[in-house]
Amino acid sequence: MNKTTMPATVPAKLLRSAKKAMKNAYAPYSKFRVGAAVLLSNGKTFCGCNVENASYGMTNCAERTAIFAAVAELGPKIEIRAVSVVNDQGVPCSPCGACRQVIYEFGPNATIFFQGSTGPKRAHITELLPEGFRLQ
Ligand code: THU
Repeated sequence: MNKTTMPATVPAKLLRSAKKAMKNAYAPYSKFRVGAAVLLSNGKTFCGCNVENASYGMTNCAERTAIFAAVAELGPKIEIRAVSVVNDQGVPCSPCGACRQVIYEFGPNATIFFQGSTGPKRAHITELLPEGFRLQ
């Protein structure tokens, strides 16, 4: 979905959903709470928060939590149109590399809304992840 076809209300609605999910974050180690909301092409929205672990590498980011919830609920044929990410510290935070690859898997044409270094930003997933990996 490109800028011309994205309804103007989408960013604010997704941001609101992401903020709500952020409140459920389990982040006792980093103290950095993150929320994400994913809009699918069927119009449904799924949310997620980061879930950390004492074994730090087991941490699941908010974006992947939301995407995995969508797959768990609807099955593998989901298509991601947009993702919003928010954190509780108001600092710049774009999806990490692992999440970019997972977003790309289900949304090669997705738009990502996040806090950039100069304010709110929107980017196409391929701007964030050029040459994303796919198995055909
Ligand atoms: N985190 C996310 O959930 N999403 C991001 O886009 C960036 C980082 C989480 C992972 C970890 O729980 C905490 O933020 C600090 O890295």
